[in-house]
Amino acid sequence: MSNIRLMDMGDYPQLIDLWRNTENIGLSKADSPVNLDAFLQRNPGLSFVILDDDKIIGTLLGGHDGRRGAIYHLAVNKEYRYKGYGKALLNHCLAAFADIGIERCHIHVYADNQSGLDFWQKHGWFTRPELVLLSKDIGNPVKVDR
Ligand SMILES: CC(C)(COP(=O)(O)OP(=O)(O)OC[C@H]1O[C@@H](n2cnc3c(N)ncnc32)[C@H](O)[C@@H]1OP(=O)(O)O)[C@@H](O)C(=O)NCCC(=O)NCCS
Repeated sequence: MSNIRLMDMGDYPQLIDLWRNTENIGLSKADSPVNLDAFLQRNPGLSFVILDDDKIIGTLLGGHDGRRGAIYHLAVNKEYRYKGYGKALLNHCLAAFADIGIERCHIHVYADNQSGLDFWQKHGWFTRPELVLLSKDIGNPVKVDR
């Protein structure tokens, strides 16, 4: 029996274990407990876990900037794939975005993650060849210590 609920920081040990063991999930300082806690507090009601009893078998982080939504770390344990869990997590998040008026959502996918790209495109997501992602690191960010 599996079910979906909101993610919370009590999940952290299982989250980081799943992410470390999932291909094509890139981890960074943004995934530290302090920073994940800040993300969840800033984006309430948008990040979910799916469970098999009390074992976390899938995750999705949802956030937004007030204009567009962003999804990170959609991951399903390899032993539980192709059972609809990824789609269920995605649908939960998209419904939550719709509830707060977010009309469009973006996802970053590694260019060589063909399987991931196939998944997103199967669900109606489209690539944006007219756009290029540029990033910049912020020097000395203030760490939120909660
Ligand atoms: C992508 C991922 C989350 C899919 O999870 P999943 O639980 O196996 O997916 P689902 O069972 O919900 O699949 C839903 C639908 O997508 C299809 N699908 C699943 N994975 C697919 C893939 N890699 N390519 C194409 N279609 C795929 C399923 O067949 C299913 O189709 P249906 O609705 O017609 O039956 C999982 O493979 C994963 O964790 N991958 C590694 C991490 C990753 O790449 N994440 C996304 C990149 S950011």
